[in-house]
Parts: sequence; structure tokens; C-alpha cells
Amino acid sequence: MNESVAHAMNDNVISVEGVEKVYGYGHSALRVLKGVSLTIRRGEILSIVGPSGAGKSTLLNLVGCLDSFQGGRISILGRDVTGLSVEDLSSFRNRHMGFIFQLHNLLPEFTALENVMMPLFIRRTARREARARALEVIARFGMEDRAHHKPSELSGGESQRIAVARAIVGGPDIILADEPTGSLDRENSRRLTQILFDLGREHNTTIVVVTHDREIAAMTERTITLVDGNIVS
Ligand SMILES: Nc1ncnc2c1ncn2[C@@H]1O[C@H](COP(=O)(O)OP(=O)(O)OP(=O)(O)O)[C@@H](O)[C@H]1O
Ligand SMILES: [Mg+2]
Repeated sequence: MNESVAHAMNDNVISVEGVEKVYGYGHSALRVLKGVSLTIRRGEILSIVGPSGAGKSTLLNLVGCLDSFQGGRISILGRDVTGLSVEDLSSFRNRHMGFIFQLHNLLPEFTALENVMMPLFIRRTARREARARALEVIARFGMEDRAHHKPSELSGGESQRIAVARAIVGGPDIILADEPTGSLDRENSRRLTQILFDLGREHNTTIVVVTHDREIAAMTERTITLVDGNIVS
């Protein structure tokens, strides 16, 4: 490995410093993150585990620039995202991040293929190229036959595969996944996660996955445990 590759692999892609998140105000204020610090390197595959309500999704959403926070600092790819405008944030997300959520993943009125093409449409990739790239990723998930079906005509597992394909199609620097296989059986869950991680390793993508599944956590290089708004290990 040459020096520049080694350097690129060691740089911090995600840096969270003393972040505090409070939902609500006054009497009903709920401190959900109590000064969380975390750095994640390029190409690292990391899992976040911890009990329900610990703040895992909250932390993931902050890293994904999807929500505001009260204290601390977050930089993504060396850029302090705290001061970015809504427009800058959404184009930053589109260029650098892929998201996978457990529910409400796909747009129901579009086919599987169109759903996967969506991140490329948003950044104005030519239709022909977007289609070719989307079909290529769909093939990696063995979903060619289902590409022209709408989400309502797909099984839960197929929908999840399409959602993962959509997160990865734009070649993001970072993929953020919140219980991406929560509704799948063990075998499908393991298989889908394996394809995601393999694709991530091929492209040196940083992957952060929130999971309750020990098997999936064990497939990642590092696991952090969040309890009651603090990282405990
Ligand atoms: N928009 C919101 N407004 C107020 N409270 C919220 C909001 N979102 C989450 N919370 C609360 O913040 C706490 C942390 O929620 P979060 O979704 O981050 O937990 P989690 O660790 O992802 O849990 P789970 O494993 O159940 O998904 C919970 O007590 C939750 O009820
Ligand atoms: Mg959650």
C-alpha cells in the first residue's frame, strides 16, 4: 500500500465532538445525547448498539445532517456541517451520503429501478447513465427480474435490497443505516448485510449501521455501545 492510500484510509470521515441533543423545552425537555464524541475513519465499517431509547437513531440522524443539535460539533469529510444552510446540506447529503432506514424506504409510485435511479436524478446524471448504473447495482443484489415492479409488488426482503441499492448507487463516501435488515429473517439479513459490506469495502465507503442484531454487529470492524445518551464502550 502506498503512502497516499494509507493516508486516505486513515483520515477521519466523521468527527463528532461533545455533541448534545435535547428534544423539547422546559419541563418536557429530554436530554438524549449527553456529550457524545466519536471519530470514524474512511472505509471503516462500524456498528452502534444499545438499548431501545439510548439515542442511536438520534446520533445517526445528526451524523446524516438530518436534525439540529444543541452543543458540540460535527464535521463530515473535514467540513463543519453545523453552519451549512438547508440547501447546502441537502446537496452535501446527496453527493456524499447514502441512507437506509428500516421503514418507509421506497417511493411507492416509482418502480424499483426508478427508486434506485433517484439519487442520480437529483444530481442531474443523464438518464441513460443513471439507468445503466442503477441496473448494475440491482444486478449485484440479484434483483434484475424485479426491477420494473413497484414497491407494493415486492416482498419485504426485496424492498430492503432495493433500498440498499439506492443508498449505494451514487458511490457515497458514507452510508448510514438504521436497522437496515430489521424486518428480515436471519439468513436474508446476514446475506444483505454481507453484500452491503462487500460493496462498501470495494469502494472504501464508510458504513455506520445501527443494529440490535449481534450477528450483524459481529460482522463490523468496530462496535460502539450507546447507553442513556453516552458511549459506554
Ligand atoms: N422527535 C422526537 N421528539 C421527542 N423525543 C424524541 C424524538 N425522537 C426521539 N425521541 C426520544 O429520544 C430518545 C432516543 O430516541 P432514539 O430514537 O434515538 O432511540 P434509539 O436508541 O434509536 O432506540 P430504538 O432502538 O428503539 O430505535 C427516546 O427516549 C425517544 O423517545
Ligand atoms: Mg432507533
